[in-house]
Amino acid sequence: MANAKPLEGKITIVTGASRGIGRAIALRLARDGATIVLAARTAEDLSKVAAEIKAGGGAATCVAMDLRNADAPAALVKAAIDAHGAIDIVVNNAGATKRGDFFELTDADFLDGFALKFFGAVRLTRAAWPYLKARRGSVLSIIGIGGRTPGAEFAIGGSVNGACLSFAKALADIGIRDGVQVNAINPGRIRTGRFQKMVEAQAAREGISLEAAMQEIIGKASIARVGEPEDVANLAAFVLSPESRFLQGALIDLDGGQTKTV
Ligand SMILES: NC(=O)c1ccc[n+]([C@@H]2O[C@H](COP(=O)([O-])OP(=O)(O)OC[C@H]3O[C@@H](n4cnc5c(N)ncnc54)[C@H](OP(=O)(O)O)[C@@H]3O)[C@@H](O)[C@H]2O)c1
Repeated sequence: MANAKPLEGKITIVTGASRGIGRAIALRLARDGATIVLAARTAEDLSKVAAEIKAGGGAATCVAMDLRNADAPAALVKAAIDAHGAIDIVVNNAGATKRGDFFELTDADFLDGFALKFFGAVRLTRAAWPYLKARRGSVLSIIGIGGRTPGAEFAIGGSVNGACLSFAKALADIGIRDGVQVNAINPGRIRTGRFQKMVEAQAAREGISLEAAMQEIIGKASIARVGEPEDVANLAAFVLSPESRFLQGALIDLDGGQTKTV
């Protein structure tokens, strides 16, 4: 009988898996049969996601760590290998960059943004690569449309995402040689805790309701609606499924049409 679960037996690391997009991806890939290694800083939040996965009949282990620390990504790979003996998929999702007036942002703010999202992904991918190569595995990075279309408030996020997009392309080229699939998804506005904070800040700044602030954001972005974490998870599941194996080096905007340029 054909395998009903496309990712059955795939050992999958998801970073930033305790909330938002990473959590939705972890839950979805687990439903598709993957065994998930969940990583983020807060152990309690990770345990809740692991419990949800297990309640749905899936398998998950948690690794609580700060991925800004230079040694953390290699330790995450070691934890995955110790627990499961292999790695098939790495989803680089953890990221947190400070928004704001460029002239108020410090070098430390820039370095912090790069430490997690860029160097965290570089180090994790490097450490996992031999295992991915051995299993003809996949890397998927969740980056962001700000890498293509930066903005005044997004000097750090745009720079970090631009670097991540370039890194994904370089890695995809290495992946052709080594049999590793590499792709990226650029989310637009997705309803997560971070997005909610942005809506609240705008509402407070302008003295308007949360709903009005949300409508302003949707109008300014010129999109039909805000995306849900599950929208990103659905695309991630497709990109990582055996059906998408020809996809290599793709940088896919998932933004409700916000990116207007080619
Ligand atoms: N939401 C959007 O609209 C949007 C748009 C474009 C791109 N993105 C990108 O999508 C990714 C996920 O965004 P999100 O909105 O889902 O974020 P989120 O809700 O803020 O979740 C971030 C995740 O990363 C973890 N994390 C944060 N700092 C960490 C650290 N130092 N070490 C390890 N884990 C850390 C968090 O858990 P802990 O705090 O417990 O560590 C959490 O699990 C990010 O890379 C973001 O840039 C999001």
